[in-house]
Amino acid sequence: MSAIKDKDRKYNLHSWSAQAKISPIVVTKAEGIHFWDEDGKQFTDMSSQLVNSNLGHHNQAIIDAIKAQAEKVPFIGPAFALECRADAAEAVVNASGLKNAKVFFTNAGAESNENAIKIARQYTKKQKIFSMYRCYHGSSAGAGMLTGEPRHFFNEPGGPGYVKYDGPYAYRAPKACKFANDDEVADFYLELLENQILYEGPESIAAIWLESVVGSNGILIPPVKWYKGVRELTKKYDILMVVDEVMAGWYRTGKCFAFQNFGYEPDLVTFAKGVTCGYVPLGGVIVTEKIAKYFEDNSLGCGLTYSAHPMGCAAAVATLKEYKKQDIEGKVAKTGKVLAEILDSYVDKHACVGQVRHIGLFSAIELVKDKATKEPIVPFGKDPEGTMNKILGMLKAEGFWTYSHENMIIVAPPLIITEQELRDEMAIMDKVLDSVDNMIK
Ligand SMILES: Cc1ncc(COP(=O)(O)O)c(C=O)c1O
Repeated sequence: MSAIKDKDRKYNLHSWSAQAKISPIVVTKAEGIHFWDEDGKQFTDMSSQLVNSNLGHHNQAIIDAIKAQAEKVPFIGPAFALECRADAAEAVVNASGLKNAKVFFTNAGAESNENAIKIARQYTKKQKIFSMYRCYHGSSAGAGMLTGEPRHFFNEPGGPGYVKYDGPYAYRAPKACKFANDDEVADFYLELLENQILYEGPESIAAIWLESVVGSNGILIPPVKWYKGVRELTKKYDILMVVDEVMAGWYRTGKCFAFQNFGYEPDLVTFAKGVTCGYVPLGGVIVTEKIAKYFEDNSLGCGLTYSAHPMGCAAAVATLKEYKKQDIEGKVAKTGKVLAEILDSYVDKHACVGQVRHIGLFSAIELVKDKATKEPIVPFGKDPEGTMNKILGMLKAEGFWTYSHENMIIVAPPLIITEQELRDEMAIMDKVLDSVDNMIK
């Protein structure tokens, strides 16, 4: 073991891991879509780290903006106005396209959802919050209770008022469902949701949370009718619609925010990750006009020492400029099509591929033991034989870096990847899937 790894293992606790079972790669350099370990092995970052390094590593414009802000005013409390603070807020609100919106800056995704819960409750004077199974919203006390997959078990029993609903996932819908088209999928899940709203009492429900496109849990992309239907239900029952854009936001799906693909406007938007591409932490909650107006006369019940931290704001201004300068929207429109074609070709080619799902450069490969029964390659919430780690290990050996969740492999490269680079990397995936086909024989 190297001295760095040795020290890391002695003192650091790493997320979501039994510490004795992990062996973190020691990274010595990161540039563009690549990073290198201490032996000089090159990896292609096919997950953009945790789907946040959208502009890749070592973007000089972002680094220069952070350096310049560090020289100018590295920190001043959130009560003060500051050029980069005003510029970052303006840029974020304009990017959302939501008229007369405002933003409350936080430091990360969970903190954004945490504060959005408080804002929703304060504004509506109601308590219950609906969120979806198979969604991830963070791991802190409130955000962890919004989370609807096994990582929320660590937050239980948690506070009262969190209600989970079942959202669209046609591939794993109840067996009795025989959907002829997307509209039927949306209608089915909307009916379930409306029933649940009535059972729980609309007068007690503050907000319905959704990931704009479900990320970690396998890129679940509902029909357009679903989003519009949720918007109608929330209006009908006077409930806020909150969209979590932490992972899907910032051009990952092609549009700046994923909700912009589907023709509806939410009441609150939470974001983080790609707003600074992780160069320094920043997140936030965008509140639409009616909520912004409410807080003109009512004190906002949220506060953080590092709200709108100058370094984060300076990084955000530079990052949002870079997205435009590099025409990331145009790039993703092209490379997204290439990725879609490659992934779609896997479905017929590989016995282990049950379904692929993609939008922009945001995709998942769902692995099964048997296409006919759809039995997942690992049971839900478990991987007794370490199967997914073995598969990731095969990819890693070829320098393809990504992560998996349940029986799904996430493919979400930096948005600056070229078509050729994407083809080369996906050829590695293709080869590894051949081996997985053999594994399940
Ligand atoms: C959709 C979504 N929301 C919230 C979070 C939590 O963000 P953070 O880890 O920055 O707290 C994540 C993290 O992956 C996420 O994917």
